[in-house]
Amino acid sequence: MPAPLRLGLAGLGTVGVGVVRIVQRHADLIAARAGRPVQVIAVSARDAARDRGVDLSAYAWEADPVALARRDDIDLFVEVMGGSEGPARLATEAAIDAGKDVVTANKALLAHHGQALAEAAETAGRVIRFEAAVAGGIPVIKALTEGLAGNRIGRVMGVMNGTCNYILTRMESAGLPYETVFEEARQLGYLEADPNLDVGGIDAGHKLSLLAAIAFGTRVSFDRVELEGIGKVSIDDIRHAADLGFRIKLLGVAQMTGRGLEQRMTPCLVPADSPLGQLQGGTNMVVLEGDAVGQIVLRGPGAGEGPTASAVMADVIDLARGVRLPTFGQPATSLVEPVAAAAATPAPHYLRMTLLDKPGALAKIATELGAAGISIDRMRQTQHQGAHAPVLIVTHKAAPQDVAHAMTRFAGTGVLVGEPVAIRIEEV
Ligand code: HSE
Repeated sequence: MPAPLRLGLAGLGTVGVGVVRIVQRHADLIAARAGRPVQVIAVSARDAARDRGVDLSAYAWEADPVALARRDDIDLFVEVMGGSEGPARLATEAAIDAGKDVVTANKALLAHHGQALAEAAETAGRVIRFEAAVAGGIPVIKALTEGLAGNRIGRVMGVMNGTCNYILTRMESAGLPYETVFEEARQLGYLEADPNLDVGGIDAGHKLSLLAAIAFGTRVSFDRVELEGIGKVSIDDIRHAADLGFRIKLLGVAQMTGRGLEQRMTPCLVPADSPLGQLQGGTNMVVLEGDAVGQIVLRGPGAGEGPTASAVMADVIDLARGVRLPTFGQPATSLVEPVAAAAATPAPHYLRMTLLDKPGALAKIATELGAAGISIDRMRQTQHQGAHAPVLIVTHKAAPQDVAHAMTRFAGTGVLVGEPVAIRIEEV
């Protein structure tokens, strides 16, 4: 049997423990598939004393992940600590400098430093792989870099934050407001230590930026992702959207247009009967569109011990087999700086507003929409509350900037009560 692939594992939280469990439980199966054994040699975590429910006694302990990354007796550095800076970044850089390959689950690190790390790795003849960083157990990096390598990718879409999808689907099924379900999610331990990473769309935006780099051969440009979290999604909009045949999702969309690269991670309406509309709870879904293959839909667990460790091990086993793909599917130096599209592609929009229930009120709103070049597709006025009339409008395709302009003009009509809401309807 050829020499084992020797791992240094940095991070013994949920994912790290999952990696240890798979390495121990499936040692024979992995050796058979990889053609050589895969062994954990040394581990590192903050607290050496904590009982993690796995036997770590055979592994050397390193308090410092940088020291772990530099050990002579490891071939591959597995980073499952998280964080875009600090120990995760330092240890990853140290691993490359010390001539190790890297497998990471760290989307934040790669979204911010992926280009520099990939270039450093390639200069050193090393490889960085990150299947676990995007959509947990769904093998979406492999799908893009390998399965769809013969396609020009048109669009990548996805629900890639399970916590947000849990909150939105629970709001709808239980009829509860955002704040209540957010608190439930916190109690259930679903939220990241910084909840804004989840509900602010940042975590999902990191993932989208990594997929966009592979899909379009562009340098990772997380700073150009249009980000909007779910904090302003109201139970009223979830209910009205459902009545109109839609669901609200925190949806990521990346597409290369004639105007440049569009990357959005924003709440959108999608048809309730579409695969994305049907997605419930903490599950993730990624939709890939290629010119030859058409549309591929991948659905599965986006977080948790087993799913994320499963993805880490896919990369580990690839490296044990000698499969050495460039980080973003092509040499990092060949990735081009994307031109960011100044505005999103036109799309239908859902508009909700409350109007004074008096003659000509609706006509004034329709006039403003017409003046902005926006055509109404459907309209509904229901559930009058005294002198106020809630109005729902679905527009034909409209440029987001035209919708935003019309929304500002509504205030001057004198018939608007409170703030109007506009949400993009994504054609999926
Ligand atoms: N917090 C993320 C989620 C998992 O809820 O999907 C890690 O990216």
